[in-house]
Amino acid sequence: MEKKTLLTGDRPTGPLHIGHYFGSLLNRVAMQDEFDSYIMVADVQALTDNFNQPERVRENVLEVAMDNIASGVDPKRSTLFIQSQIPQIAELTVFYSNLITVNTLKRNPTVKAEIAEKKELFGQDGESVTYGFLGYPVSQAADITIVRAHIVPVGDDQLPMIETTREIVERFHRMYKTEIFPLPQAKLSDSPRILGLDGNKMSKSLNNAVYLKDSPEETIEKIKTAKTDSGTTIEFNPKERPEISNLVLIYSLIHNRNPKDVASEIKHNTYSEFKLKLAGDLNRHLMPVRAKRAELEAKPHYVKEILDMGRVKVLEKAEETLKLVREAMKINY
Ligand code: TRP
Repeated sequence: MEKKTLLTGDRPTGPLHIGHYFGSLLNRVAMQDEFDSYIMVADVQALTDNFNQPERVRENVLEVAMDNIASGVDPKRSTLFIQSQIPQIAELTVFYSNLITVNTLKRNPTVKAEIAEKKELFGQDGESVTYGFLGYPVSQAADITIVRAHIVPVGDDQLPMIETTREIVERFHRMYKTEIFPLPQAKLSDSPRILGLDGNKMSKSLNNAVYLKDSPEETIEKIKTAKTDSGTTIEFNPKERPEISNLVLIYSLIHNRNPKDVASEIKHNTYSEFKLKLAGDLNRHLMPVRAKRAELEAKPHYVKEILDMGRVKVLEKAEETLKLVREAMKINY
């Protein structure tokens, strides 16, 4: 039986952190045998809110590729590629833009939240939002369907994008009376989302993340200074004690155990004892990932070669898809 196709991706806006690692990278690694897997470095999407700093996006393309490979995404089994190197994605985005209303895009809760966060770029009330940013879910639909993916592993913030993709696919089929695409399905990670070390969302801009590329010393320093509360015991109670519970969660993910069980065992540790143990165990857990990453950093040509092989493979599939699409749309002159 032929394998089903999987596609997912990351915006190259910074190196990947342990939130990405536990939340999505391990999941990709676990799925790469069962599916024909495509991992996209979404540089074009990253530019939709970094158009004024293209060097940031460029600098992080290889970082993101290396983080994936170091975490176990195996270039022999998964196809890694750069979004901008597949012009058919841009072409498909244009065709799809007829199949979704501006109002639907404006209601997308993830896009809405991002516009509200980015006042410097898009104005106090989003009055200066660009056509490109508002439309990135359309471009994401093209990312997913360019390889005719069945399954899209993502975090829950991406569910609205998958919903838009499904809507576009269904419209396309109805409008042009074909069945080119599978109806793609989101696959949520079972792993609960970890927070940053200050209790906010883990993110580069908040300076609260542990990166896969951090040194063991940086990791220890970051965890030592992680925010906690004034409690005297350790428990897993994310609602009332989010920061300490988040550290327990990270610890439990490292050990592949239930966070409540773990918390009850270390209940009487002091915060500083626990933090040292956590940092040590995290460093030990990430040792092979970091070793592999250091190896890759030493041979960027090898990483570029992998991305280039991915480009060649995806181009072929993308052109196949576009042939079907142009034919369905009667523009196959
Ligand atoms: N929007 C995703 C994110 O911010 C990245 C992404 C781009 C993606 N294209 C994709 C994810 C296609 C899944 C499928 O993380």
